[in-house]
Amino acid sequence: MLRTHRASTVRRVVAGWRRRGLTVGFVPTMGAIHAGHLSLVERAARHADRVVASVFVNPLQFAPHEDYRRYPRPAQRDRRLLRAASVDLLWEPRAAEFYPAGHRTRVKVEGLGDVLEGASRPGHFAGVATVVLKLLQVVGPDALWLGQKDAQQARIIERMVQDLDVPVRVRRAPTVRERDGLALSSRNAYLSREERRQAVALWRGLEAARARLRAGERSAARLKAVVRRVWREYPRVREDYVAVVDRDLQPLARVRGPALLAVAARLGRARLIDNLEWNGR
Ligand code: PAF
Repeated sequence: MLRTHRASTVRRVVAGWRRRGLTVGFVPTMGAIHAGHLSLVERAARHADRVVASVFVNPLQFAPHEDYRRYPRPAQRDRRLLRAASVDLLWEPRAAEFYPAGHRTRVKVEGLGDVLEGASRPGHFAGVATVVLKLLQVVGPDALWLGQKDAQQARIIERMVQDLDVPVRVRRAPTVRERDGLALSSRNAYLSREERRQAVALWRGLEAARARLRAGERSAARLKAVVRRVWREYPRVREDYVAVVDRDLQPLARVRGPALLAVAARLGRARLIDNLEWNGR
């Protein structure tokens, strides 16, 4: 595995592959690599000749009160895992080079970035869209791999890529879960033992809502009530939101077609999200 912090090296290596007619898949991460990231790498490798991964804790997507400083950064472990997963090139940008003094440009995807996560984390998605566009400009991959766990992020990036004619295919991979259903996330590391036990509430609530959908329930209000009822059994879970939205993340009163059930909750100092896609089954 090649490793660099320089954008110029990434461009040079990828250009060499391109001259040989090789295709490239790209997996952007903020590190603290877990099985969810590794499943993205595996998929990228299955669909392309070469895989580039990036590890960069992007300061632009954290509000001043959020966990930028204490976000886990196990660099050696991340490198080992990504090497073992057959990443060909690991890009570890340095913040001061990636955002040199005076940088001002932000990418804002109107309408999609202010709801759900965006309502709780103002400016977050402008930070995400900006970093992802910059990463794409340097790597120039054929495919960009994102996790379904961050469904809103994936939707925003799909929209950005389409709106700005970025020549890349955005691919989503399913959420990877612990045995009890908890979605893998780097932020699970913040959970105490008891919080970890109760964190399963997010998925249990979504599963209960899915069971009601399968039984024919279509009222968004009643589906949200189902999730909340499950959460009442887990006192450490503090709701941030429970939402039923359409493909463009707009709230639905009734589920008539494809829908996304999205939830966010705090447990201690961790803030966790999860979602369930409904396509009629
Ligand atoms: O999902 C993440 O880890 C980040 O938001 C991403 C896409 C790597 C951008 O910093």
